[in-house]
Amino acid sequence: MPVQEASSSVPGDAVAVFGAAGHTGRFVVAELLRRGFTPIAIGRDAARLAGSGFAQRSVETRVATVADPVSLDRALAGVLAVINCAGPFLDTAEPLAAAAIRARIPYLDVSAEQGSARTLFERFGSQAEDTGVILVPAMAFYGGLADLLATAAMGDWTTADGIEIGIALDSWRPTRGTRITGQRNTTPRLFISNGRLEPLPTPAPEMSRMFPAPFGVQEAVELSFSETILIARHLRAAELHTWLNLAPLRDLRDAGTPPPAPTDDSGRSAQTFAVEAVVRKGAETRRASASGRDIYAVTAPLVVEAVQRILSGEIRKCGAFAPGEIFDAACFLRALSPEHLALDIAGG
Ligand SMILES: NC(=O)c1ccc[n+]([C@@H]2O[C@H](COP(=O)([O-])OP(=O)(O)OC[C@H]3O[C@@H](n4cnc5c(N)ncnc54)[C@H](OP(=O)(O)O)[C@@H]3O)[C@@H](O)[C@H]2O)c1
Repeated sequence: MPVQEASSSVPGDAVAVFGAAGHTGRFVVAELLRRGFTPIAIGRDAARLAGSGFAQRSVETRVATVADPVSLDRALAGVLAVINCAGPFLDTAEPLAAAAIRARIPYLDVSAEQGSARTLFERFGSQAEDTGVILVPAMAFYGGLADLLATAAMGDWTTADGIEIGIALDSWRPTRGTRITGQRNTTPRLFISNGRLEPLPTPAPEMSRMFPAPFGVQEAVELSFSETILIARHLRAAELHTWLNLAPLRDLRDAGTPPPAPTDDSGRSAQTFAVEAVVRKGAETRRASASGRDIYAVTAPLVVEAVQRILSGEIRKCGAFAPGEIFDAACFLRALSPEHLALDIAGG
């Protein structure tokens, strides 16, 4: 398949996907097509793009690398927004966000890495605001989903004494990108204690705790992802703790665990998940939870829903934002239910 150069005849609904040939990138391209957008598949490797079946779906491909800003500018020519699916995001978020700002288009990524989400807020927030661009890091299973659930659970509360995020997976067959990102992402993970971001203690606390059905009581470890950085942006809580059950970590730590295998026409694996946000103020608690299948696949409707809302003009401010900061969290989540998420949000 020929790899096309950026053309002047880009359709008016074109959305670029960087890292499109990856496992998650391909789900995102499929979701954009399903919703009537014109995806532009960008990758650093022409052969991998050519082997990803984009031509069969008439999806234009473009080659660009993070080391070459001119190639990024060419690849983003004429598109309405860019979704970055190429991780480790510690390597790709900065150059892609800078290119989005130069192109004056929204930038979203699917990072689980706390460091890249922080960078977008701290180094790019004011530049994005000045140039009228929206940046949304971590609009994905890890990150945005817990942030939206915590925001929905808060409801009309402006502060909480504590927020607990519980993430349970029945298994975890990691992609190559997940394994590489895990090796790259070695900075201490942050949680919130006494209202401040602090490094997690080593070893991280472990305990038996309750997760939403069907998981029930599970052995778990305190392990925070990008949701901590998102939540810290806009929800005020003295404590924020994220717990992951141990079963998927055992899979992840086993070098022999195979990558995810498709079990339906959409390419979803059989993996199941549940995520819960419990917010506490005094003696009162509020909760919101979501469950579904395949943490990579569900990332696609999460990030494409966000792109669609931004492009519809729903968001009237510019800068770098956590999803819960700019979207009506409960409304956003309900838009993905029941097709992608089974939801339990108090009050609805
Ligand atoms: N937050 C979440 O819940 C969530 C959900 C899904 C995925 N993710 C993250 O998304 C990333 C991708 O995951 P995946 O499952 O799609 O992995 P994957 O199947 O291995 O795909 C990774 C893609 O990123 C590209 N890439 C990696 N580093 C790059 C760089 N420096 N410049 C350009 N392209 C680069 C790869 O290109 P090549 O093929 O050329 O190597 C490949 O296309 C990982 O960091 C993963 O942790 C997070």
